[in-house]
Amino acid sequence: MLARPKFWFTAVIAVVAIAAFAWGCGGDDEEESPTPTGTGGGLTGELEIFSWWTTGGEAAGKQAVFDLYPSVCPGDVEITDATVAGGAGFNARQVLTTRMLGGDPPGSFQVHMGHELTDTWVTTGYMEPLDDLYAEEGWNDIFPQGVLDIVSYEGKPYSVPVNIHRANVLWYNKAVFEENDLEPPATFDEFFAVAEALDAAGITPLALGDNGIWASAQVLETALIGTLGADGYNGLWTGETDWNGADVTQALENFKRMLSYANADHTSLTWDQANQLVIDGDAAMTIMGDWVDADNKAKEFEDSGWVPAPGNAGIYDALSDTFGLPKDAPNPDAVKCWLKLAGSLEGQEAFNPLKGSICARTDCDKELFDEYLQSAMDDWASDTIVPSLAHGAAASQGWVEELNDAVTLFVTDGDVDAVQGRLADACVNAGVCE
Ligand code: GAL
Repeated sequence: MLARPKFWFTAVIAVVAIAAFAWGCGGDDEEESPTPTGTGGGLTGELEIFSWWTTGGEAAGKQAVFDLYPSVCPGDVEITDATVAGGAGFNARQVLTTRMLGGDPPGSFQVHMGHELTDTWVTTGYMEPLDDLYAEEGWNDIFPQGVLDIVSYEGKPYSVPVNIHRANVLWYNKAVFEENDLEPPATFDEFFAVAEALDAAGITPLALGDNGIWASAQVLETALIGTLGADGYNGLWTGETDWNGADVTQALENFKRMLSYANADHTSLTWDQANQLVIDGDAAMTIMGDWVDADNKAKEFEDSGWVPAPGNAGIYDALSDTFGLPKDAPNPDAVKCWLKLAGSLEGQEAFNPLKGSICARTDCDKELFDEYLQSAMDDWASDTIVPSLAHGAAASQGWVEELNDAVTLFVTDGDVDAVQGRLADACVNAGVCE
């Protein structure tokens, strides 16, 4: 069903080549592998699953997979749901890093596919390869080749992708738009015209919750995509697009103007609290990933509309949540069965309709998904795929942190020259730009 557009992985491979990050390009290993010990039954002990999934829709999706565990992994395993709240793993990553470096890994942990997984944990030798499990489960034929390539290093896969999310969505309150006789905006000019009209009507145009600065960085990423287009945006991560260029200046001006229409208290809200403003009709729009679809579902809000963020039509800004097996993880047999479940058809069909994401697998039943997710599946199959900045796909963790710091200053001072210089420096510091 989901034919895999190749652009994303092509772009990421290009990033890798130019940045001299040592990505693998395999994922086709078909070695003979024994059944992982214990996955046939009789599993016992504790299984700690570490994530940042704490909001309604996130928790619901996760719980649906937990509920399947005893039937797929017979025995008496007790799952510990270890969460650190904070969207995009903004807080969880720090706790995880302390634990991993301190020799105290969880059984398995949520980590974004792409640079966040590979540069942070795989090339550094903290993860076990999963080629046996992939061969046993037939996943080399079930996950798209582009996905297999990205989760692999030196020919072996290192994590199991549970979903594909889209980051560049503009969500809006349909009733607010209808009452104000407005159409959802497709371009920046339309966005600003709509925002002016909403402002005049006393409605906050754009809901933002950037108490984790990643939420603003994500709006910036959509402004970069919408202004530079897919090729220009991809070139930012390979050194081909000049961070000092006039089009990046324009993207930053667009971003700055978008921020001027946000709720005044944005630095004290989370992304889901910002979405609540839209649900309540106090704000009209929010630019956020499609976990908003899950939030709306959990809050039983059915009057939500969606369009690509301004200028983003035809481009799918993608990310994926994955789970792997850390070296020296406690109870590795129980972890392997968790991974088997996470990659299974049953697991992905239970998880993704509640989580607001589409399956990483190619064989999920479309009818199980709501109207938004069915449209996302169509877009995934036809759009140009680009990797998300704010969610670990486009750049290494250190680079993303530097970009986040630059955005933190920018949302306060609005100094386009200064932020552009910082963004250009960050590319140099990452070893990608000269
Ligand atoms: C993303 C993650 C999603 C969702 C979102 C908000 O980074 O991939 O699964 O949880 O953060 O927390």
